[in-house]
Amino acid sequence: MIGHQESPRLRWIVLNSAEAEADEGLDIIQGLQQTPKYLPCRYFYDDRGSQLFENITDLPEYYPTRTEQSILENCALDIARLTGSCELVELGSGSSRKTRILLEAYDRLHNELQYCPIDVSAGILKTTALDLLNCYPRLKLCGLAGTYEQALAQLPPRELENRMLIFLGSTIGNLNQEECDRFLTLIQQALEPGEFFLLGVDLQKDISIIEAAYNDAQGITAAFNLNILNHLNWRFQGNFDLDQFEHWAFYNPIKNQIEMHLRSLTSQTARLDVLNFQVALKEGETIHTEISRKFHLPTLMATLEAKALKPLQTWTDSNAWFGLILCQRQCVGTECP
Ligand code: AVJ
Repeated sequence: MIGHQESPRLRWIVLNSAEAEADEGLDIIQGLQQTPKYLPCRYFYDDRGSQLFENITDLPEYYPTRTEQSILENCALDIARLTGSCELVELGSGSSRKTRILLEAYDRLHNELQYCPIDVSAGILKTTALDLLNCYPRLKLCGLAGTYEQALAQLPPRELENRMLIFLGSTIGNLNQEECDRFLTLIQQALEPGEFFLLGVDLQKDISIIEAAYNDAQGITAAFNLNILNHLNWRFQGNFDLDQFEHWAFYNPIKNQIEMHLRSLTSQTARLDVLNFQVALKEGETIHTEISRKFHLPTLMATLEAKALKPLQTWTDSNAWFGLILCQRQCVGTECP
């Protein structure tokens, strides 16, 4: 993947199953044929979308990233001590900005440093990996390009005594209850008893604070939302006209989640040539692009526990806006001694 820049401390695994390739885009067709229309939110993250998300994390209104970062700064050493020497495997690593805090902590305890970032955006994965190798001379890296499902089903064998799967940024909030349940089963299956799972989650709070985070004054979140159409345009030779849509985000207090939609400003049709597919939208019709659930910490801890992922310790910020949960995989059934 990076040929001439190869380092003995760096390996790449590109997860591209044949089925996934044959199915490419089917989820889009399915989503756009539903009522109301829907697009899977992982299509936000082409290289431009990943960059726009990085820009979101710097916005004054977008509290989750900096809050989670401040929690990590306070508890990284505790986590490193609780887990001992272990390799870090991160789902949706992006720029790995927050993971660096953990790497520093493991480094300070003179633990071996082994890190497996996993991301659907190969571009950001590559840039990040090369930068990390420069920053941490003892670090060994194994980058996995692919979806969570692909990665969890084919994690490379563990190289250190233990392993910690990391899922930060409240990305788990993008999954509805049923998807979340299936996802946690995949986590349980990917981990051996004794291994760790570190989960970062956005917590329920005053609605105005949450809504502002998804309706920033600079319009970066709007650009991020619209970029999903841009991604479809280049990937599937489409002709969505981004000027004919507007960003719409609000908090649903019954489901405790932000919902993001794109609203069609006109009656229009768009084509996706590679998929041989056309979609018609009425004026005012919406495409649902994302949910971002906000959690109640004790409820979520019980859910984790029920999945044999026992919470060992939790940390929050002083406002309790965001939570970090360190879980340890318990043995189940025949696994138990
Ligand atoms: C990266 C999924 C956690 O839900 O807050 C930011 C994505 N969407 N602004 C979130 C996002 C709109 C973000 N996650």
